[in-house]
Amino acid sequence: MRYTSGSYISGKLNISRAAVNKHVSELRRAGYHISARQNLGYRLVEEPDLLDRKMLEENGVHFVYSVESTNTTARNLAEKGYPEFTTVIAEEQTAGRGRRERHWYSPPHSGLWFSLVLRPRLSGPAKAAPLTLVTAAAISIYFNRVASLKVKIKWPNDLLINEKKTGGILCELKGEPDYIDYLIVGVGINVNQNAESFPPKLGAQATSLSAESGKNYNRTDLFFALKDSILQSYEQFIALGFSQARKTILEYNTFIGTNVSINRGGNILKGLALDLDSKGCLLVKDTKGTLHRVNYGEIT
Ligand code: BTN
Repeated sequence: MRYTSGSYISGKLNISRAAVNKHVSELRRAGYHISARQNLGYRLVEEPDLLDRKMLEENGVHFVYSVESTNTTARNLAEKGYPEFTTVIAEEQTAGRGRRERHWYSPPHSGLWFSLVLRPRLSGPAKAAPLTLVTAAAISIYFNRVASLKVKIKWPNDLLINEKKTGGILCELKGEPDYIDYLIVGVGINVNQNAESFPPKLGAQATSLSAESGKNYNRTDLFFALKDSILQSYEQFIALGFSQARKTILEYNTFIGTNVSINRGGNILKGLALDLDSKGCLLVKDTKGTLHRVNYGEIT
């Protein structure tokens, strides 16, 4: 592509040269690679892979280019009374959150970072506890059965390919012991990142769909497909309970039948993971033969 002079652009658009500079800076911030040469003008070198804002907004999805965390934005909307299924997606998150207040690396142009507002009419937060697993099951159904990607679930919220993390789920709930006001389901998927693009401290543990399959994915299409799968599994959970998601998790899990070490807020439980119960708790037999029903924690 040839260079186009700043004065030509300002004349064509009927804006000042300063305004041209400002727009070029904005486009660069949005990921467009624009070369500028004195006496020649500007040249578009490369367009970024952007989420399709128009398609998202036409389908009622709240798109924000850059946000601290889509979970926080979705929570703010829920607080304002936005209805169930309100969805927020961002090109990048500047303070993406993982479980246990960990930072979630969410750069632009390569991943999916989105959150759904749910308002399940269940009798209290305890009844909604399996929803992280229901979401993990829905995502793995799509990847394994439709996209031919061997995504596995590590209880309770990690999505793995070849034992490396390619996604995670963060559910945050507001309610009282006998009432749920809303639940935010936040999903992060590493989609088109190169293996080398992860920060060194994530290093060997993190991967993306593309790094594992060698393919590039249309993130907007992938988002709609995952959202459909999640909502389908959610409706099924509300109508029929956890049994279908439990079956899916047993099919795609990485932990049942293995020796696990589970960190529950600093308290470590070691033993054999035997099964998942009907509420999503992990059944673990410790080294003395005692059976534990674990409802939270992290497998290490
Ligand atoms: C984890 O594996 O610990 C959960 C990661 C969840 C990340 C997603 S990205 C979209 C949503 N917004 C956030 O700040 N976090 C979740």
